[in-house]
Amino acid sequence: MTQTVIVLDFGSQYTQVIARRIREANVYSKVLPFNTSINVIRKLNPVGIVLSGGPASVLVKGAPKPKQEIFSLGIPILGICYGLQLMGTMLGGQVKSSTCREYGRGKLNILSKGSLFKGIPSKLTVWNSHGDCLVKLPKGFKSLAQTENSDFASIENTAKNFYGLQFHPEVEHSEKGKEIIRNFLFSVCKCTGDWDMEDFTISAVGEIKKKVGKKKVILGLSGGVDSSVAAALIHRAIGDQLICIFVDNGLLRLNEREQVKELFHNHIPGKLKISLAGSLFLKKLKGVTEPERKRKIIGKTFIEVFDKEVKKLGKVDFLAQGTLYPDVIESVPIDGNPASLIKSHHNVGGLPKKMKLSLLEPLRELFKDEVRDLGRALGLSESVLMRHPFPGPGLGVRVIGSITSRKLKVLRQADSIFIEELNNSNMYHKLWQAFCVFLPVRSVGVMGDERTYENVISLRAVTSSDAMTADWAQLPDKLLRKVSNRIINEVKGANRVVYDISSKPPSTIEWE
Ligand code: XMP
Repeated sequence: MTQTVIVLDFGSQYTQVIARRIREANVYSKVLPFNTSINVIRKLNPVGIVLSGGPASVLVKGAPKPKQEIFSLGIPILGICYGLQLMGTMLGGQVKSSTCREYGRGKLNILSKGSLFKGIPSKLTVWNSHGDCLVKLPKGFKSLAQTENSDFASIENTAKNFYGLQFHPEVEHSEKGKEIIRNFLFSVCKCTGDWDMEDFTISAVGEIKKKVGKKKVILGLSGGVDSSVAAALIHRAIGDQLICIFVDNGLLRLNEREQVKELFHNHIPGKLKISLAGSLFLKKLKGVTEPERKRKIIGKTFIEVFDKEVKKLGKVDFLAQGTLYPDVIESVPIDGNPASLIKSHHNVGGLPKKMKLSLLEPLRELFKDEVRDLGRALGLSESVLMRHPFPGPGLGVRVIGSITSRKLKVLRQADSIFIEELNNSNMYHKLWQAFCVFLPVRSVGVMGDERTYENVISLRAVTSSDAMTADWAQLPDKLLRKVSNRIINEVKGANRVVYDISSKPPSTIEWE
């Protein structure tokens, strides 16, 4: 049986990041509500338990607490931030408020390495986020580290295998955080690293089978990473009970529909329905220039088209979505009811309610790079898995101002040249996103001996790790020159190319 580490969730926005760090170390982790019964915990036979951080104060009446018996199970426990404070108070120490609040980066001075800090330098920069702190150690504990404001920034009780960290080792800003978590897993819990994405696939397939039974599932496939991986996973579980619907809204990139067909043909040999709705979308978008109105029209029309396709299928029970963890509102509520958290995808928002469908979201615990690993485990190709994100409203928000089929055609050709050249120069995978934007501006040019008066195309290429912030990419001159030459020579309707050198913030990645 695969070793399991349980993460008890006290509502921290980082709980899933802790779980993800554990999975990164090839250890299976399961996030459970803080008040999970001891019987459920015992049944899972965990090799370790992590108490997450959380927004509450242990000093407040009614603060979320785990069952006291978890400290008698003989299982190693690591308390992080609020988790350390819980361990402190529940085992007889003392926590005080406000005297030692620490937010953001701070210096950690390690006094004794113990198991947690084995192989780690004595001074670290770590990331804190706490108002309360432990001021008196519980019996049997000693301090492993201090910060300027706290003598007990890390604690251990080796006899019981209980450990605490006042800072957040799971966040990127904490130096050696991953190593500290690995020390807990491998030195304290004696994990063997016996889990990987293949195991995730097996358990996810089992869960999908159990949830769906003999019922039908539909999935709106966009051809992007998330919906493709979700489709491949669900297809592996329930085969032809899954029906994928691809809506061609007329706002797609060059040959995109063919690529989706190919993806299906090669990797997901299931049922695919293609709905050709380009003219309907264009009709509804005629003359619309305001970006938010465009988005609303595109979203609403998508739902209409999708709904119509689904009605043709008879009774359907589930709507599958490739929702990832970052799409889910970050903090799990203290009542442990994750159902209240679903943030609908841009494309299909409102669908489940309107169509009375249950949601199936097998990727909702995963982060983007984990989804890519899962896709690899399912045999999807790198070209699908490493594709740049593409917004739901598609080229609709990249043709600035009113949308016409002529403008879309110009944009598609220019965009395809840009992407082709980025691939040829091995730049594509170094970027978060790259695309062309059609500007509603015409400029004068000269081609041969003829005057031209055509539109301007802007190139946009950015680096980013999460799209929250982005830098414009410094593309090689030679590449920019080639792309510009090719677009102006090969694309009828464009006679000038500019490069967007705006970062986010204050600009956004897309122009609309
Ligand atoms: P911005 O332009 O806000 O974009 O910096 C951040 C990321 O989100 C994508 N994006 C969208 N995705 N529907 C989507 O599905 C949308 O309406 C939408 N708007 C922006 C954008 O491509 C970038 O990756």
